[in-house]
Amino acid sequence: MSSLASTTDTNHPSSSHPPLPSSNSAYSRLDYWNERFTSEKQFEWLLNYSDLKSYISHACTRAGLNKTITSVLLVGCGNSTLSPDMYSDGYQNVISLDYSTSCIESMKLQFPETDNFKWVLGDMTNLVDFKAAQFDLVIDKAAMDAIMVEEGDVWNPDTNVIDMARKMCREISRVLRVGGMHLQVSFAQPHFRRKYLEGGHGGEGGVDSSGVYNEFGWDLTDEPVAGDNKDGCFHHFFYSMHKKRDGKW
Ligand SMILES: C[S@@+](CC[C@H](N)C(=O)[O-])C[C@H]1O[C@@H](n2cnc3c(N)ncnc32)[C@H](O)[C@@H]1O
Repeated sequence: MSSLASTTDTNHPSSSHPPLPSSNSAYSRLDYWNERFTSEKQFEWLLNYSDLKSYISHACTRAGLNKTITSVLLVGCGNSTLSPDMYSDGYQNVISLDYSTSCIESMKLQFPETDNFKWVLGDMTNLVDFKAAQFDLVIDKAAMDAIMVEEGDVWNPDTNVIDMARKMCREISRVLRVGGMHLQVSFAQPHFRRKYLEGGHGGEGGVDSSGVYNEFGWDLTDEPVAGDNKDGCFHHFFYSMHKKRDGKW
């Protein structure tokens, strides 16, 4: 995925936005994010909570989850207000994780922690602070996208990118309980993104009875977010992964 910068440029709500990086590969670097979050207080990538609220709720209802969500993890949370907005809307035990120290410090100041709302410094490819099956719901909005800027040829992606995306999915699956839901929002086309989310890039989980790769133990559906192709620009996609069993590793 090579166009992370251009999609967000048109969405940008703030004139104090730092200049776009000279290379898209900056989005995969911690030093870029640390510097950016030092000056930029809030920025919403792709879509905001009001755009996504009904998608999140419908996906969880379809999985029989809505009334039983008691713990939520947002990975690569950045300085988006998605997690504070979800908490304000009634979600409980919401943890937002990012690997940028300046991000977590800034968000703690803007949206103070409570017993049920936390900001955590951590790596979404190695979720060491969390137990297996700790969460009912794990959300990624534009976080795997940051890894993908080094993907190269989408038909023959870089092997380091495949490895990082696999580590991320394994870790998310590990901390998600069976019956729980992983949701991802991205502008990546399903044809390409599904392979990462199912383990189809040479996954070790093999194919299930319907011929689909299912390395991470979840059933995957995707849908475009309706009506968001505002400027003839990109559609965004909503990926729902309902965990049915533990992954195969
Ligand atoms: C494109 S931004 C999306 C931010 C936010 N989720 C949103 O939708 O506005 C990508 C975010 O992922 C974070 N990130 C990238 N790699 C990460 C990693 N390995 N672990 C945790 N966070 C990471 C970056 O610091 C950045 O905040």
